[in-house]
Amino acid sequence: MGNRALKRRDGSRQGRSLKAALLVAGVLFSGSLLAADATPAGQADYPGWRDAPLPDGPVGAAIDRGRLILSNAPKYAPAYSGNALTCTNCHLDGGRTPAAAPWVGIWGVFPEYRPRNAQINTLSDRINDCFERSLNGKRMPHDAPEMTAILTYMQWVSREVPTGKSVPGRGFQRLEAPEPASAERGAPLYAQHCASCHGDNGAGRGAIGDAAYVPPLWGPGSFNIGAGMARLNNAAAFIKANMPQGQARTLDVQTAFDIAAYVTRQPRPDFARKAEDWPKGGKPPDARY
Ligand code: HEC
Ligand code: HEC
Repeated sequence: MGNRALKRRDGSRQGRSLKAALLVAGVLFSGSLLAADATPAGQADYPGWRDAPLPDGPVGAAIDRGRLILSNAPKYAPAYSGNALTCTNCHLDGGRTPAAAPWVGIWGVFPEYRPRNAQINTLSDRINDCFERSLNGKRMPHDAPEMTAILTYMQWVSREVPTGKSVPGRGFQRLEAPEPASAERGAPLYAQHCASCHGDNGAGRGAIGDAAYVPPLWGPGSFNIGAGMARLNNAAAFIKANMPQGQARTLDVQTAFDIAAYVTRQPRPDFARKAEDWPKGGKPPDARY
């Protein structure tokens, strides 16, 4: 992702300010509102926040540094990344895509209690979880310059959202499959809908920054077994809302679940500290361990 991350892609000025105003008022987006703005299905975003110029001086520089790290962690945070992924492979378009775990509004909803470690988690704790699991890397000190830059970026994309309010489209859309997910049905569906980009072996292709780069879905270069995306429901919801790239929301829910079942059962790096998860219960049924 280049500088486009902080520029507006689409939508009229009027449409943008209307949506921003509705969001700030805490009114939920409805499908028809988005459709009325002629935003292509699956490409809806939070355009009210994308076109403001960065502040001058050190704050603007830190926001920009955060954006770079999040869009290419292996290059800009090599000490903490451990695979061929970067944050924005899942948190699409700089964390501003609803139903792709957006960072818009994230600043004002942490600290938050999470049953996975049964503790109050700060935003930097949560960021470190994704470094350790999604990027199969390492936690960084809370005062690392990289962490400061990431937090400054997240505060910037959250600046229009009232403190304590989750935006519509936070996390992933919760879906239920009509029938239990089947990895057997998912295998040929993966070959049909996904392998052209992610490869028959799930390894993706190229490196971040290459024009043809596609991130890996399994194998040594991918997220580890402790990652949120390793869970069936998250993977199915992400796939349904965002994949295949360029044809988001074209798969039906059952197909997304069957493909997710196939993808999440493939081999991937282990997560050594998985035994410490959910110490007080509450483990979701789709956890892999
Ligand atoms: C392989 C996909 C993937 C990658 C790569 C990834 N994440 Fe995540 N991230 C997730 C999932 C899945 C969740 C959980 C969303 C949920 O619980 O609804 C999540 C959640 C988060 C949250 C909390 C969102 C919320 O609404 O509470 C933050 C913050 C976050 N990630 C930051 C990062 C950062 C920073 C990086 C890069 C170091 C990163 N993520 C890389 C998949 C990913
Ligand atoms: C046209 C090429 C293309 C197709 C087809 C495609 N993807 Fe992707 N996929 C991508 C790209 C590129 C990204 C990274 C997006 C970004 O960084 O903005 C991605 C990201 C992902 C991610 C999150 C990052 C990761 O590696 O874990 C998952 C999961 C995923 N795709 C699954 C699928 C599945 C399942 C299918 C089939 C239903 C599919 N994709 C089809 C190109 C594609």
